[in-house]
Amino acid sequence: MTNSIDDIRSRIADAKQGAIDNGNPRPRVVLVPTMGALHAGHLALVDEAAELGDIVVVSIFVNPLQFGPGEDLDSYPRTLEQDVAQLAERGVSLVFAPTAAEMYPDSNAGVRLTAGDIGASLEGATRPGHFDGMLTVVAKLFHIVGPDVAVFGEKDRQQLFLVKRMAKDLNFGVEVHGVETVRASDGLALSSRNVYLEASDRAAALALSAALAAAANSESAADALDAAHAVLAAEPRIDLDYLALVDPSSFAPVSPEHQGQAIMLVAARVGSTRLIDNRTLSIG
Ligand code: PAF
Repeated sequence: MTNSIDDIRSRIADAKQGAIDNGNPRPRVVLVPTMGALHAGHLALVDEAAELGDIVVVSIFVNPLQFGPGEDLDSYPRTLEQDVAQLAERGVSLVFAPTAAEMYPDSNAGVRLTAGDIGASLEGATRPGHFDGMLTVVAKLFHIVGPDVAVFGEKDRQQLFLVKRMAKDLNFGVEVHGVETVRASDGLALSSRNVYLEASDRAAALALSAALAAAANSESAADALDAAHAVLAAEPRIDLDYLALVDPSSFAPVSPEHQGQAIMLVAARVGSTRLIDNRTLSIG
């Protein structure tokens, strides 16, 4: 593990040279960006990364730029030692865990990317600036690591859409790969923030995945939204932020009559914890 940009670059260069010396003329570097507090969902990303390339690099950085005032930057779970040990067990030694000063030596007020209209909707409406900060750090990580492929979880579906769009719009030459959400056996999407849930909240949180499941097999977008709303409304501990159905190719809301593929996204507060989830539906 290293927290130095120069050091991770030279370790990646050494790993590439080692692969070339061993007869692989074009080793593929795969980046898995994380904020640490690794769980089975992250480890699924790491496993997928190992399938997609030759050299896996995992970054661990709780990016201050993507947290707004009053959000959980200070309390966000940090388990670096355990994270590095879990990665070592999976054979990943290229772990980049920079400090904020290494990433933003001139403080946080420098040049930033803007996520555009889609970045201001849904998660971006509740968390203004979140996606600008997220894209800025992902762009920096792409420049630092120089990956051929980068792997992100579908759990953060709007993030995945925006990273794909950034890579395309800004010609990064990085293939952005999404990995299916890993769920607990009762359906709850795994998230580092689940550790905040008290037992009663944990039970109520199941309404999110249950609402998405209830919307599957609907005849129209309007029916799908009605079915999901009914499940959420039946759980008094759910404080709904948004429930939306968007077109997978544009992330724009679909019409009530829409049939075909759509992504249903939900965000809600359960007790003091804000949770998100999503599911691809085939409507009609
Ligand atoms: O999904 C996350 O953990 C973060 O948003 C990411 C992609 C590592 C950027 O900080």
